[in-house]
Amino acid sequence: MTPKNTTVKNTSPLDGKRLLLIIGGGIAAYKCLDLIRRLREKGMTVRVILTRSGAEFVTPLSISGLSGEKVYTDLFSLTDEVEMGHIRLSREADLILVAPATANMMAKMAAGIADNLATTALLATDKPVMIAPSMNSQMWEHAATRRNLAQLKEDGVHIIPPGSGELACGEEGMGRLAEVDDMIKAIEFFFEPSGALTGKHILITAGPTYEAIDPVRYMANRSSGKQGYAIARALAALGAKVTLVSGPTNLAAPAGLQMIPVESAAEMLAACQNALPADVAICVAAVADWRVSNCAGQKIKKQDGSLPTLQLTENPDILKILSTDKVNRPELVIGFAAETENIAANAQAKLNRKGCDWIMANDVSTTNGPSVMGGDYNKVILFTGQDKDREDWAPGHKDEIAKNLARKIAGFYT
Ligand code: CTP
Repeated sequence: MTPKNTTVKNTSPLDGKRLLLIIGGGIAAYKCLDLIRRLREKGMTVRVILTRSGAEFVTPLSISGLSGEKVYTDLFSLTDEVEMGHIRLSREADLILVAPATANMMAKMAAGIADNLATTALLATDKPVMIAPSMNSQMWEHAATRRNLAQLKEDGVHIIPPGSGELACGEEGMGRLAEVDDMIKAIEFFFEPSGALTGKHILITAGPTYEAIDPVRYMANRSSGKQGYAIARALAALGAKVTLVSGPTNLAAPAGLQMIPVESAAEMLAACQNALPADVAICVAAVADWRVSNCAGQKIKKQDGSLPTLQLTENPDILKILSTDKVNRPELVIGFAAETENIAANAQAKLNRKGCDWIMANDVSTTNGPSVMGGDYNKVILFTGQDKDREDWAPGHKDEIAKNLARKIAGFYT
């Protein structure tokens, strides 16, 4: 007889991994307690260095109670050095996470200063380092912090971007420590087997399209291409062969994938069809709905106040064409729905109308916080078919949304 209860194997990529968590000073340090608990549930070993200022906010006792490990502080004794020197401490981990990473800590890291246990361990390590910054929004925007952040990125430090909202100092803005869920997702993504999508060809459209009015003028929209490029990078990082068909943007072509630059919707469609077959297609581009059918061969000149007449015709719907391709339909077709109202209902209707498999609905109204079009942050609902199959994702940096989607696609193939 088949047993009714089967044991579900812990498939977390964190199972058996070791984290060295450096808790910096900041009121958000309390989030690290929940982080430690949740990481341990996923099978991770968490060893903590508590900085002097971190110890103003959380106690070694509460940390060791949750981590089940000794907590290392600046007041570490000679015995600690004998038992566990800072070099060993920094190397006996698979990953080091600094959270909250204060402006001061980031500055020291960027400059290579080693004046306490935490910074010494960071300088001595040969392991990957991740930081979750947290500070007042003015400090986050300060030119010095921008410089330090750029330097840390260049040094290969992984960044878990801060969120926006009310800060401990009472001000509103960017600088809140990332939520525990987001830190866990970032750590999981880091340990995700990098070849999860090896062998899969993924076609992505991104950016706006430019529709010519005459040789010097065009119609376009506000899309920056950031979300599509981030998705392309995240998928390439999981081993997929990515073809990125991009309208004009100010972004650098991401490394490790094939980018096909286009201008108009017609060019974008042709490039997509040329790139088939693909296993997955993701239409992130904000394709212009119309083009000018009487596009002038020469620059249109002003004529005594009389206005030129532009005749518009509808552009091909690339998402719909790929979704209904009888010969080469990708196995998984994903659309985006940029909506300003009735987001869920409109997105669901769009999924049905266009025949795609999943649709990511995002609120592009400017009334709900910072603009999504052109901005770095996004809030999405993912519909994976039926009405009830919806996932409301926490608002996040476009890079994080992209990584989540990449993991979701990897999950589709496992
Ligand atoms: N799309 C496309 N080709 C078009 C128009 C849209 O591939 N000509 C794709 C987009 O890349 C996105 C999805 O369709 O994945 C929805 O785009 P959106 O602009 O939200 O919807 P529209 O179809 O343009 O409908 P509407 O403007 O009425 O909301």
